[in-house]
Amino acid sequence: MHYRRRNVAASLATIILLVLLSAALASARATIRERFKEAPQFYNSPSCPTIISSKEAVHVAMTLDLTYLRGSMAAILSVLQHTSCPQNIFFHFVISSSTPTSNLRATIATSFPYLHFELYPFDDSSVSGLISTSIRSALDCPLNYARSYLANLLPICVTRVVYLDSDVVVVDDIATLYNVDLVQDKVLAAPQYCNANFTAYFTPTFWSNPSLSVTFANRHPCYFNTGVMVIDLNRWRAGDYTRRIEEWMELQKRIRIYELGSLPPFLLVFAGNIVPVDHRWNQHGLGGDNFRGLCRDLHPGPVSLLHWSGKGKPWARLDANRPCPLDALWAPYDLLQTPFALDS
Ligand SMILES: *[C@@H]1O[C@H](CO)[C@@H](O)[C@H](O)[C@H]1NC(C)=O
Repeated sequence: MHYRRRNVAASLATIILLVLLSAALASARATIRERFKEAPQFYNSPSCPTIISSKEAVHVAMTLDLTYLRGSMAAILSVLQHTSCPQNIFFHFVISSSTPTSNLRATIATSFPYLHFELYPFDDSSVSGLISTSIRSALDCPLNYARSYLANLLPICVTRVVYLDSDVVVVDDIATLYNVDLVQDKVLAAPQYCNANFTAYFTPTFWSNPSLSVTFANRHPCYFNTGVMVIDLNRWRAGDYTRRIEEWMELQKRIRIYELGSLPPFLLVFAGNIVPVDHRWNQHGLGGDNFRGLCRDLHPGPVSLLHWSGKGKPWARLDANRPCPLDALWAPYDLLQTPFALDS
């Protein structure tokens, strides 16, 4: 009897040990395993305005997560490399509140020791209840919705921001995009595509319900990509646009009015009411065809920003030795430290 009890105690201890071990392994998986090189320091040209307050800075917002970190690092480098006032750029990184902050902060600071940046934990649970499953599960990640909450997350003194996805490379001066004229009290500027079939972004249920489709009655709505946007945060706050987006998401939970993730609520609130920006600022779709994984070509015209939107990512294709031709344009911004680079 005594012996048996000791046996039970021993197996209990083993179970506890296993639970602890798997918890430790799970947290180890959540830490950053990639190592990144240090980027060169970039200096302002003599004509750059001196930063006295947040007004003179160029504010850029991005999300940071462990799976797209390599993309984000490349995007940051590309922004700094092509702007004439790199020391005037301020980065606002939104991270999931479940991601360890210190790790990400150290990773950014190691590669960009001179970068002005701040991290903003985003409470996943605040939005997860509003997400209805979409046709592409990658789009259902709560951090994907953080762009709707920038006005709440960023300090009140930040009145304008350029939001960028993590799968972009900027090859022009970001200040040009940032300083777009937001005429007629418009809240948002982005390249828009009036040739895209706007009807296709919403379900027949939406279009056949007059009380819903009336939302587009007095505008000429066009598709725009939410991966590159200039946002007037003061106007956003004043109009409580976060709430307006949430209201559509709440409706989507009850009746299916669209199939994609965070994009359609933006279209519902803003399409037909944005300042159109030159298409050069979002050469999107380079991630390729979502169904067959085919490579995509650039749209005609000049290029200021390359965007690997879609399922395929350049770093994954390069690692797999199956790159698309345009992935060669992403590679020079890759800061990942390869084992070979460590040797040399
Ligand atoms: C636009 O999309 C809708 C819904 O998918 C479709 O019924 C319609 O035929 C399309 N229109 C054009 C011009 O392709």
